[in-house]
Amino acid sequence: MSERVPARAGVLVAGAGEAGVRVATTLRELGYDRPIVLCGDEPHQPYQRPPLSKAFLDGKAVRADLALRTPEFFRDAGIEVRPGQRVTDVEVDDSGSGTATCEGGDTVEFDRLVLATGARPRPLPVDGGGLDGVCVLRGVDDAERLRDRLATAGRVVIVGGGYIGLEVAALASARGLATTVVEREDRLLSRVSAAPLSEFLAERHREWGVEFELAADVRELVGDGHRVHDVRLADGRLLPADLVLVGIGAVPETTLAEKLGLDVRRGIVVDAGCRTSHPGVWAVGDCTVRAHPHLPGELIGVESVQNANDQARAAAAALAGAEPPRPPVPWFWSDQRDLKLQIAGISSGYDRHVVRGTSPGADLTVLYYRGGELIAAESVNRPADFLAVKRALGKGKTIAPEPAADPATPLKELITDRA
Ligand code: NAI
Repeated sequence: MSERVPARAGVLVAGAGEAGVRVATTLRELGYDRPIVLCGDEPHQPYQRPPLSKAFLDGKAVRADLALRTPEFFRDAGIEVRPGQRVTDVEVDDSGSGTATCEGGDTVEFDRLVLATGARPRPLPVDGGGLDGVCVLRGVDDAERLRDRLATAGRVVIVGGGYIGLEVAALASARGLATTVVEREDRLLSRVSAAPLSEFLAERHREWGVEFELAADVRELVGDGHRVHDVRLADGRLLPADLVLVGIGAVPETTLAEKLGLDVRRGIVVDAGCRTSHPGVWAVGDCTVRAHPHLPGELIGVESVQNANDQARAAAAALAGAEPPRPPVPWFWSDQRDLKLQIAGISSGYDRHVVRGTSPGADLTVLYYRGGELIAAESVNRPADFLAVKRALGKGKTIAPEPAADPATPLKELITDRA
């Protein structure tokens, strides 16, 4: 057991993903000059996740391409990165200062704590999850395992028709693998999208040869005691599979927050400045939930890289005593072969949607409204629509629904003040 005696950290960040790293780097950009310690649970230097289900999985990027920053950058910035040092316990006094214990026994004393603990894959609650050939995709080690499996697989079953499911289905089908997606809801991406987008994506994936089992539940992953060979559905049918990918959502990692007695409701509850219910503890990224912008009283988690970065900037500003940044428009993207899906705003809570598109099957935009005001849009291969909506939302403006339905009229010409 190593016992390091660190300098006292001004800020300890627990979690070295996108959000945690951005807290540390923004603190330095804002002139914060106290020691910063960044503890990560994975035994790797901090890396980007978006390529894991895209270029990295496809063999077009290697581990070195994923680095968020170089070790020299962290050293020069005075940010002490500790990979493989999961924070396992933490005590905090009323002022926010305290002591964290890391896996392996090292301790870190700190004045302020930021939780950037992320999320983990939701486990599939059926027998057979431990069989060889059953994969998840969250970290780079998962992605490498999946990449290796894809190289030899013949039949792939993906459980979950969300972002992981669709991005991996796009890639697996491009390689000629027999690919089936099993989705519990009656359409894809139902967590975030309206039916027209779900149908558009399903149609394109079907053209690529992907099969879908919608409104279907998995009862069991069946194997020979070692390797998986079938997925048994609730109706008894067997889907042959030598590779099963489970992508049924992410569960916020809140163990430390719960130990600290913070307000946790699915995720760690934070305000716009990423303060938790403890005045000296902040939380950022996929481990958090916050007030829903369109449904007062409800809390949502926004699981995106951009949200991780925006929340990190807000927390760093508060920690450095700087002006909080203006809340940016949430945005998000997904690449599925030649389809570039771009999302601006948060659509949940919408009461009306408008669809536009020029060439059937090739592009599509869905605009979402609540109380007559534009709240979000999802575009496939219509980047100008995405940019116009992002700009409108960023300026607190709107786009009238009726003229927006005409795909020949550029949305940027329809941006107006709200009523
Ligand atoms: P997700 O929440 O996007 O989708 C999960 C899907 O699984 C949903 O459609 C849900 O209805 C379905 N599901 C839930 N339980 C099921 C069950 N028992 N059987 C069958 N289907 C079930 O989560 P996903 O795809 O696992 O991704 C995890 C995280 O990674 C998310 O935060 C996601 O946003 C992120 N991600 C983002 C990407 C991007 O930005 N393009 C790409 C890949 C992942």
